Amino acid sequence: MFTLAHLSDPHLAPLPRPRWGELIGKRVTGYINWQQKRRFIHDPAALAAVVTDIKAQVPDHIAVTGDIANIALAAEFPPGRDWLESLGSARDVTLVPGNHDIYVREAAVFAARQWGAYMCDDEGVGGFPFVRRRGNIALIGLSSGVPTAPFLATGWLGTKQLTELAATLNELKGEGLFRVILIHHPPVSETARQKHLLDAPIFKRVIAAHGADLLLHGHDHIHMVNWLHGPNGTRVPAVGVPSASAAPGRDKDAAGYNLYRIEGTRDAWQCELISRGLTTSGEVVQQKRLMLQS
Ligand SMILES: [Fe+2]
Repeated sequence: MFTLAHLSDPHLAPLPRPRWGELIGKRVTGYINWQQKRRFIHDPAALAAVVTDIKAQVPDHIAVTGDIANIALAAEFPPGRDWLESLGSARDVTLVPGNHDIYVREAAVFAARQWGAYMCDDEGVGGFPFVRRRGNIALIGLSSGVPTAPFLATGWLGTKQLTELAATLNELKGEGLFRVILIHHPPVSETARQKHLLDAPIFKRVIAAHGADLLLHGHDHIHMVNWLHGPNGTRVPAVGVPSASAAPGRDKDAAGYNLYRIEGTRDAWQCELISRGLTTSGEVVQQKRLMLQS
């Protein structure tokens, strides 16, 4: 039995004070949005409660699907590193970046420098997709975070990542591993187009052709389960979680995370999903239990 915890979109607060030179372009609108709205949603106490509850479950591994940062100021990345280290070592925690982590062009360098140990393969090599093997589980990290114009939160994988993903999925299938894809943007979303993964149709075709056992994402800040087409009539669950720091009582789901209990062997997997979330009284409780594969 392997227990995988998945959380996303912690959007660490407080936001460090920006330097004047940093507040140009997209960061201006992002900063105003943070000050007027988002700082009231992303609550450090909610995040701390979620992290404490995750640790009490003693997972074998923790996956984080991005948006640690808010407007990708240089000063957001060292606290992000501290927060990752508070979750666990880079051996036990895997990260993929979100659009708020790669908010502006230079942010990819900050993320690689500060968080690179959490976004690399088992040999320490960065770049996407990367693969980490833990027992008979393979974690495949993708990056959909790209700098965009103001008011856009779209994602993009691109031909190179998608081509390598196809080959990687085949290879891992051959090894008989349970393949878990980690990506920030969901492949299926009810949100407006300006938040979508723009090459989702091609991504879904790759999954339909080459398969996967589980896909974990964030970005929409709500609990979501969508079933994608896999090869030969199989279905692939794509599961999203709320922001891990969302204060209860706002317009989206309160802070929460998912646990996966995975067992079995090649083509005979069992995977149970357990959702846990924060209540208005500040407790983290089990909200849902669902067999994804049995
Ligand atoms: Fe987010």
